[in-house]
Amino acid sequence: METPAVTKSQESETDLEILIQSLPKEKYWLRHGLDLHQIQGFWIPSFAIRGIIKFRNQFLARDTDVILASFPKSGTTWLKALTYSIVNRSYDSSDNPLTRFSPHDLVHNFENFIFKSENYPDLESLPNPRIFATHSPYQLLPESIKNSKCKVVYVCRNLLDQFVSRWHFKDSVKSETPQFPISEAFEMFYQGIDGYGPSWAHLLGYWNAGMENPQKVLFLKYEDLKENPNFYVKKLAEFVGFPFSEEEEREGVVERIVKFCSFENLKNLEVNKNGKRQIGPLKNSAYFRKGKVGDWANCLTPSMVERGMKLMEDKFSGSGLSFKLSLPEAEESVM
Ligand code: A3P
Repeated sequence: METPAVTKSQESETDLEILIQSLPKEKYWLRHGLDLHQIQGFWIPSFAIRGIIKFRNQFLARDTDVILASFPKSGTTWLKALTYSIVNRSYDSSDNPLTRFSPHDLVHNFENFIFKSENYPDLESLPNPRIFATHSPYQLLPESIKNSKCKVVYVCRNLLDQFVSRWHFKDSVKSETPQFPISEAFEMFYQGIDGYGPSWAHLLGYWNAGMENPQKVLFLKYEDLKENPNFYVKKLAEFVGFPFSEEEEREGVVERIVKFCSFENLKNLEVNKNGKRQIGPLKNSAYFRKGKVGDWANCLTPSMVERGMKLMEDKFSGSGLSFKLSLPEAEESVM
């Protein structure tokens, strides 16, 4: 019997599998049964590793592209909604795609959606400006993103809230197998054995890129967006090349975008209350929990808080990166 010819794509799929099998592997605390694969010092979840490599090798950026990057649970949903609203000037409830789709189904993620599927969506036919998202560390981004004039916007969050948000997010994914206890999960986060982590290295990659080239990378913090959304929405609009005119500012367009994309408004839209992601098992509501700064105080033990604070101090020392760690106003700490 004749051996079937191996096509180019099958050949590269085989190469990819060989490469992935050769990478160091660890368990991922987010869910039993999930693995992490280490590539260039970063731990990538098993569900994203193929996508991350294909994205890196194959994506061709255009100068007009806008890439929204984040560490998971740092404000990705918010940033997607804001950028989509800014670029499309969609901030009213009537005929606004954000009232019908999750922000995640309007701005697609490279490694978990676009490059995950066997048959990639046709990226070439998309009109400018194309808006995409990724959790890839800066260090693993495709060269075409780094070398083109496309814009990269990064949103991050203090490591404690980000860990706590992920700790709760794991409950959105039904699991037959027992969960890791929080003490073990925290230990792995602390060691940097974490999806897309170490988290501090992820933040510092984009932080340093933004310091070196502020025209290329806009570095945003969830805490700042919470404190002064109007200011950062204007900054974001200018950065992505869709600044507000004086007339728009007079008419309150900035405030309307901020209000439309606020946690309270998005969370209570029917699509985000009862809708489901177009792909995968997740409900849209999984992306809206508390939306506050300082929820770490309600979840972590004093020892975890102390170690987490020290971790941030040590890892960000000398970089200029720091976070305001205010406690939530209306809630008592349970520590
Ligand atoms: P909490 O779990 O602390 O509530 P991501 O979008 O990166 O997955 O991050 C999810 C976190 O952002 C969750 O945090 C979620 O509640 C919060 N969030 C989602 N939409 C938001 C919005 N419009 N404004 C502020 N926070 C938002």
